[in-house]
Amino acid sequence: MADTQDMQDGKNYHLNVPQASTVFPLKGSNALDWGMKNRLARVFSPEDGHTVMLAVDHGYFQGPTTGLERIDITIVPLIPFADALMITRGALRSSIPPEMSKPVVLRSTGGQSILKELSNERITVDIEDAVRLNASALAVQVYIGGVHEHQSIGNLVELVDAGNRHGIPTMAVTGVGKDMVRDSKYLGLATRICAELGAHFVKTYYCETGFARVAAGCPVPLVIAGGKKLPEKEALEMAYHAVNEGAAGVDMGRNIFQCETPKAMIQAVRAVVHGQETPEKAMDLYLSLKTIEEGNQYAK
Ligand code: 5RP
Repeated sequence: MADTQDMQDGKNYHLNVPQASTVFPLKGSNALDWGMKNRLARVFSPEDGHTVMLAVDHGYFQGPTTGLERIDITIVPLIPFADALMITRGALRSSIPPEMSKPVVLRSTGGQSILKELSNERITVDIEDAVRLNASALAVQVYIGGVHEHQSIGNLVELVDAGNRHGIPTMAVTGVGKDMVRDSKYLGLATRICAELGAHFVKTYYCETGFARVAAGCPVPLVIAGGKKLPEKEALEMAYHAVNEGAAGVDMGRNIFQCETPKAMIQAVRAVVHGQETPEKAMDLYLSLKTIEEGNQYAK
């Protein structure tokens, strides 16, 4: 039966406390709708606006990449240390337990392989399937200056529109062709085009000169890829400089999962991205966690 008495006598209106209007803290995202913001707040920590995304989508064009031969064995134990998982729908459904609670950034373009022209991509996921998989964001490769530049920009625009209909943000990934230089001029051009066309955040590469200008010129959050495996200290330095020069974090793959002690590495990356640790302190942390991880590996 309805509680008609309480309806007549409500008391807790806090008449002296005006209702607050909050500003969404993520760069360039304040005008988005609630569902978009809620999904973005799952990927980027509401405390510091930063993220450590773990990228394991490489198989979509390069097959069983070193470190990803068995995602169920090597990647699942790393998930608790990541803020989000960037992955294809095939790997997600086949190898990741659905009770995992981390947000999924769903690789949604592909259609080529390392044997052919890399920029020749199409959309590979229907938006309904992204909803079904509870994706927190879509990821699309954009090849500015590439052979199929126009087509890849078309993929971005189509996914942004589809995601907008469902409140799912889109991350544009700036794919750099073999003949292109990853300098601030190119990265500034590529990231800005992605943001102007509606990407809600952009994945790009760090460049040693002028990255702060790339980040400032992109009106939405930037995350950096790790690229090829580097010595651990260098990867931590790259993450440190990127965040200090305006990146919102990393979407790192090989520099984590190709490390001999990946749990230690992802925690060291977190110390830089979320804890503002210097690369030296993060390296000390890495070395102490590495000893523990090696001990555990040996015990198995
Ligand atoms: C391609 C990609 C990758 O598949 C991947 O996410 C790159 O991550 P990393 O360079 O850190 O291994 O985005 O451009």
